[in-house]
Amino acid sequence: MSMTSPKAGFFITFEGLDGCGKTTQMKLLAQRLRAAGRAVLESYEPGGTRIGAQVRRILLDAANHELCATAELLLYFACRAQNVEEAIRPALRRGDVVLSDRFTDSTLVYQGVGRGLGKQVVLTLDQIACKGLVPDLTLLLDIDLETSLARARARNDAAGQSGAPAETRMDDQDLAFHRKVQRAYAELAAEHPERIVVIDARAAIEEIAERIWQTVARRLEIFHV
Ligand code: TYD
Repeated sequence: MSMTSPKAGFFITFEGLDGCGKTTQMKLLAQRLRAAGRAVLESYEPGGTRIGAQVRRILLDAANHELCATAELLLYFACRAQNVEEAIRPALRRGDVVLSDRFTDSTLVYQGVGRGLGKQVVLTLDQIACKGLVPDLTLLLDIDLETSLARARARNDAAGQSGAPAETRMDDQDLAFHRKVQRAYAELAAEHPERIVVIDARAAIEEIAERIWQTVARRLEIFHV
């Protein structure tokens, strides 16, 4: 937890293209951490709080096609500011391990690069919303674009059949957008080799989970817990 207050908990974020399997892997990691005696807060963005869930609806509703890029950017950060203040910082202060399905790296690659708003504006807003809170470790699940899009489409079809509202506004972007996002993730990982660990997400679920566990356990030094 890179902040001025004394270090207590540990903040891990999951990143990657839609359909990379980060949600599944985050659940598996949470189970394993709890089995090792750790208190864990599982969070996600956009969302994570009651207010965040309301903002999420605006952001992902496929009907909101007129939402402009700047409003989109600010809404992601509105969600994040609430999440940091209400849930993440208190959990870290308690000494929990906090897991977040996406965080500011998503905004850097989707809005900063994908939407072309620039990384600098994202970093400036991050200072306002997160006040210096940076993940201790980021797990970037790496899959190819074709698999990502096919999985996201299959999931959206299944959700559509269940009658749930379509959360596809971001998934509906064209291939060039997703390609830019993928490249931006790779660049980000190269810029932050200490914080961001790239995990090959094409392997079997158990294999990926094991790789993640080894990485996290080493960082937490909980092999002896
Ligand atoms: P998410 O709920 O993680 O969906 P998925 O499981 O498909 O990855 O994220 C929803 C979408 O929101 C996803 O397409 C990425 C996008 N997103 C941004 O564009 N910027 C952000 O800051 C965040 C957190 C998400």
